[in-house]
Amino acid sequence: MIPTVQSVLISESQIEKRVHELGQQISKDYDDSDLVLVCVLKGAIMFFADLIRTLAVPARYEFVQLASYHNDTKSSGVQMIQGLYQDLFRADVLIVEDIVDTGMTLELLLNHVGSFEPTSIKVCSLLDKPDRREVPVSIDYLGFEIPNTFVVGYGLDYAQHYRNLPYIGVLDGEGLR
Ligand code: PRP
Repeated sequence: MIPTVQSVLISESQIEKRVHELGQQISKDYDDSDLVLVCVLKGAIMFFADLIRTLAVPARYEFVQLASYHNDTKSSGVQMIQGLYQDLFRADVLIVEDIVDTGMTLELLLNHVGSFEPTSIKVCSLLDKPDRREVPVSIDYLGFEIPNTFVVGYGLDYAQHYRNLPYIGVLDGEGLR
């Protein structure tokens, strides 16, 4: 059974405001750069689509797909489903994630992107759940730090459901993290 959404953690208007602030900061920092945004599918799709439209720089973008949770709520190891093919040599890469949890997905992706020898690699994540961190990774542009609760919406899922919600909601379910 799919648990119901218990409450709204971050509203649509809060997300919109923060995405614009991040877009302004990124535009400032990457003025005059060869910026390549890398969207991490599937979760980051909504954040990515909104963020890129706030940017005032002529950015390129690419997609990668990694999955660790599959249809479960516990990670069973990160798998790269679709890697990068474009030449990122000497580019300024900005990885765009929906959430950093254990940090394992990001760690694998940083190594993958690094193998293309870009000039710089930074990370932008809408959400950070620091209580769950298992590997040290840093986030350069962060939307919101959140507590250790199971969140869905705005791209984030529970067993592939709820990605379509326009806000970040907390699921009603004991033991869900
Ligand atoms: C989620 C999320 C991040 C990752 C974060 O992806 O989108 O990529 O988990 O978790 P971590 O820090 O513990 O690695 P998921 O594997 O659920 O795939 P999805 O993006 O297709 O939902």
